[in-house]
Amino acid sequence: DVDSMEKQFEDSFDIGAAVELYQLEGEHGEILKHHYSSVVAENVMKPLYIQPEEGEFNWEEADQLVEFANEHDLELRYHTLIWHNQVPEWFFLDEEGNEMVEEEDPEQQEANKELLLERLETHVKTVVERYKDDVDAWDVVNEVIDDGGGMRETEWYQITGDEYIKTAFHTAREYGGEDAKLFINDYNTEINPKRDDLYDLVKEMLDEGVPIDGIGHQAHIQLDWPTIGEIEESILLFDELGLETHITELDVSLYGYPPEPAFETYEDIPEEAFERQAERYHQLFSLYKSLDDAITSLTFWGIADDHTWLDDRAEEFNDGVGKDAPFVFDVDKKVKPAYWAVMSDE
Ligand code: XIL
Repeated sequence: DVDSMEKQFEDSFDIGAAVELYQLEGEHGEILKHHYSSVVAENVMKPLYIQPEEGEFNWEEADQLVEFANEHDLELRYHTLIWHNQVPEWFFLDEEGNEMVEEEDPEQQEANKELLLERLETHVKTVVERYKDDVDAWDVVNEVIDDGGGMRETEWYQITGDEYIKTAFHTAREYGGEDAKLFINDYNTEINPKRDDLYDLVKEMLDEGVPIDGIGHQAHIQLDWPTIGEIEESILLFDELGLETHITELDVSLYGYPPEPAFETYEDIPEEAFERQAERYHQLFSLYKSLDDAITSLTFWGIADDHTWLDDRAEEFNDGVGKDAPFVFDVDKKVKPAYWAVMSDE
């Protein structure tokens, strides 16, 4: 039984993991209970699963995670109230069943916007009312800035402009109360122009009184990208806005993006790659610990190397070839060099 990460970081920040429900049991569950103080759903709290049809809420799986968190005294992050992926189509269909788009007719545009914002409000209100006593932090909106900077041109944005963001935060505050911690979450928050555009958006919204409490840096990173300096600068930048900082989806891929060349199987990954990864984790956690006045929670986007969404990208880009290994526990749920690097006091 190796020392618990939760204990190691108890004076610094919560340590969390994203989970699928099957991982609440067995070896994953044991690791979760021993090493972590926080948990988040990898999928089951996203709009697609929570409200697959209008007005038909599916609480079953979300409830199971909530119960587990309560039973084992884990913090719970809610991911995510609003997103452009894993959102059911019906949100964007008008009363006739046609896809709503950006309209030239201002009256039609206004009608679509009203309908979509009403659906958004109902979704946020219903979820927040149900779980407000269980959830410690809410990802209210996810990935609203485009990779190249500027607003991401999603259906949400085309139909409502940035009002969907404001409405989401205001509704979460209204039904979650003053204690609800409301986060805006995104990836590549270290990289310009995306970083500064996100900063400007948040600043503008704060100035307008939109209740944003925290910034979630996803931190899907690689062995030497972004640089440690870029990671530090970005955390400090958002911290200066007075926001709370969460690292929400940490994983350290062995590959670039798109992931090529790839090690075909786990056994093909040379020890040297794990050592390089351990150095990266060491560098990273030294930084995170030094910034623990800003950072209150740090979540890995998974538990062990046997289950990582990064492997889906091999399907997408590489004919299914390639195994990634982003975590501090290996495919057999044993500690890796990265674990010792994270736990090191040096
Ligand atoms: C991913 C899940 O890990 C996958 O299982 C699913 O198929 C797609 O979504 N950024 C996010 C997360 O905010 O919700 C994504 O999770 C990973 C990228």
